[in-house]
Amino acid sequence: MIHFNPETSTFNLHLKHSYYAFQIDSAGRVVHLGWGPRPETATETERIRGSIRYQTYPPHLSFITQHRPDEILAFGDVTTYQETLKVAFPTAGSPLARGESPHLPVRDLRLRYDQHEIVVSGSPGLSPAHGLPTGRMSERETLRVHLIDPVQPFKVILNYRLTPEHDILERWIELKNEGDHTVTVDTCYFASIHVPPGTIQLTTLSGSWAAEFTPTRQDLNQGIFILESRSVQTGHQANPFFMLNTPDRATEEGGTVYFGQLAYSGSWRITFEQITTRQIRVHAGYNPFDFKINLAPGDTHITPALICGVCQDGWGGASRRMHDFLLERVLPAPRGSQPWRPVLYNSWEDTYFDLDYDHQVTLARRAAAIGVELFCLDDGWFGDRRSDRAGLGDWYASPAIFPKGLRPLVDEVHQLGMKFGLWVEPEMVNRDSNLYRMHPDWVLHFPGRERSEARNQLILDLGRTEVVEYLQATLDSLVTENAIDFFKWDMNRNVSEPGSVAGQAIWYRHCESVYRIMDYLRRRHPNLDIQSCSGGGGRVDAGILARTDQVWVSDNTDALDRIQIQEGFSLCYPARVMEAWVTHNQNRITNRVWPLALRFDVAMRGILGIGTNLAGLSDVELAECAAYIAYYKRIRHIIQSGHLYRLQNLQTFGESVIEYVMPDGREAVCSVILRDFRPGSIRPLSPLRGLNSSGEYQVFDRDFSEFARLSGFELMTLGIPSEPDQYPGYSRTWYLTQID
Ligand code: DGJ
Repeated sequence: MIHFNPETSTFNLHLKHSYYAFQIDSAGRVVHLGWGPRPETATETERIRGSIRYQTYPPHLSFITQHRPDEILAFGDVTTYQETLKVAFPTAGSPLARGESPHLPVRDLRLRYDQHEIVVSGSPGLSPAHGLPTGRMSERETLRVHLIDPVQPFKVILNYRLTPEHDILERWIELKNEGDHTVTVDTCYFASIHVPPGTIQLTTLSGSWAAEFTPTRQDLNQGIFILESRSVQTGHQANPFFMLNTPDRATEEGGTVYFGQLAYSGSWRITFEQITTRQIRVHAGYNPFDFKINLAPGDTHITPALICGVCQDGWGGASRRMHDFLLERVLPAPRGSQPWRPVLYNSWEDTYFDLDYDHQVTLARRAAAIGVELFCLDDGWFGDRRSDRAGLGDWYASPAIFPKGLRPLVDEVHQLGMKFGLWVEPEMVNRDSNLYRMHPDWVLHFPGRERSEARNQLILDLGRTEVVEYLQATLDSLVTENAIDFFKWDMNRNVSEPGSVAGQAIWYRHCESVYRIMDYLRRRHPNLDIQSCSGGGGRVDAGILARTDQVWVSDNTDALDRIQIQEGFSLCYPARVMEAWVTHNQNRITNRVWPLALRFDVAMRGILGIGTNLAGLSDVELAECAAYIAYYKRIRHIIQSGHLYRLQNLQTFGESVIEYVMPDGREAVCSVILRDFRPGSIRPLSPLRGLNSSGEYQVFDRDFSEFARLSGFELMTLGIPSEPDQYPGYSRTWYLTQID
């Protein structure tokens, strides 16, 4: 609920368990008052009146100035610290006093309150704009605070959209050039947020290719700490997500935690700043690196959103809020009769580029026989793509492999009762391709300079309208002509020479174009599913999740490495979007050998996929796979829609225990995996959560045998009894169902 007190000019934003408040001061500046948990007994009408000034800031001393916590920090009001927004006005449009010489350009923005409105269901910029329904469509309130520059014809609207049930605020801004001259925007964060001094323990996800989503916890010091991507996709090295809490005051299931994530997949930055007064600010949005928006007269720019919130139930509570929010409000709603993500087969790790029609048919038949529901043909099917040196850009079936086109394989897959998925990497081109030979100017480059390749490929200039239109038309006919049900949309390199016809706007224009192409395809083919992949988990964020159904988390499919990667992923993203494959006995990246049961138990923690050579498995092994897949289908509704609790993480006892529980507490899945074996030591049991304490539960093993019968009380105090034969790689996926 949004409330405005006209006497004190105070805004109160009330969510289920949290509040957010700010006030317009006598000069018209929008000043932050507070953000945090609401008292548990508080009613809707209890709020901050704003008649008393609570916070005393240090007096302005010569070296301590500009520390007022404005809701938007405009370069002009703030130059000593990080600004939210920096705009340059041309002298031509700026008022000059008689005889005053021009100061080119005028880099000074002041934003003062003009008016506000409360609208129902605002749509933030690049975020869910695909027009497809999301899981929950109920209306939400958005507060729009209009600010104007007293001198320049420039307007900014601060947006606050509330999702009270998850304590989530979406923040974004709109910029309007109401003058007659182009203004340039040099810095544009979607929002700056203020958290209480002392909230310095920061949790982030960083890593690299094959080691994505590694959780890192550190304390902020005075100064600036930056997370960013300097490419046109989200990136492997950091994910646009954070949690903040006071050191020693938060745990997995307790304490106040602030959290946030960007709904944006372009070049982003999150800047954490502790200023001299120990105030903490977080600025999140476009990466100012090499950035510029040119706003022509009359133009409006709407940014994507920062999704943020605060909770009192620890890091786990923050994760569950973000999971629920993404599932209900961001992801496209499930379509058709199948509400759950299908079990998938992907041939990449089996064949790499060595594709053969008959082998694909064999794989498809075996996949269908063990219960797979979606068969995905990976890289290597098109043009002259017999290796990563050629073919990207030529999106027609290779005549050498598919002399009659893709259709016979697609029809075979459909007849086997599976959906057909196809790998594409639309943003890329190899020099050795017809597309590049025809349009060498269609790639990002600076004229006369080297065009650096990575994986032998160059990036198409998605700042060019003709390229976007070409990709829309090409992908559209691929789907139409071949009855494609699912695209695995890959993106396998970072930017090097960012030269584009769009100029420096390419840093966000590329992302905007990718969204536009996806949105176009989804509108034209409402049943088409899309998976986001970027050499593993290089494009995972709430912006891409608004137009995709699932993501590839990492190319590292080694079961034990994967536990860590998936555990990190779960801090922000729900299991429903996390594709995970059971691959070969001996892993292709790490060479380690793990039992089939462990590989299944790890992959069953998300969307189960199979990525091994099914033609090389014995009948016994295939039967084992079929049994695990059947078990997964029985429990996947809990994994894909239940609440997730990280009961034990790897750091403490080398054991990972995750529970998924349905909101009514009647069904749960408990996944236990032991990574480190410490002879002679005893690990604690893991009490479960969210069950009904008076209920009686049957606990099933993954062969459907009953392992135990226990009360909800026993399960939530002691947990599931441990088994004696535990060794590194020991794993179980228990299914719990209430029987009374
Ligand atoms: C990178 C992806 O992450 C892999 O799964 C696979 O699709 C390859 N690209 C294909 O080139």
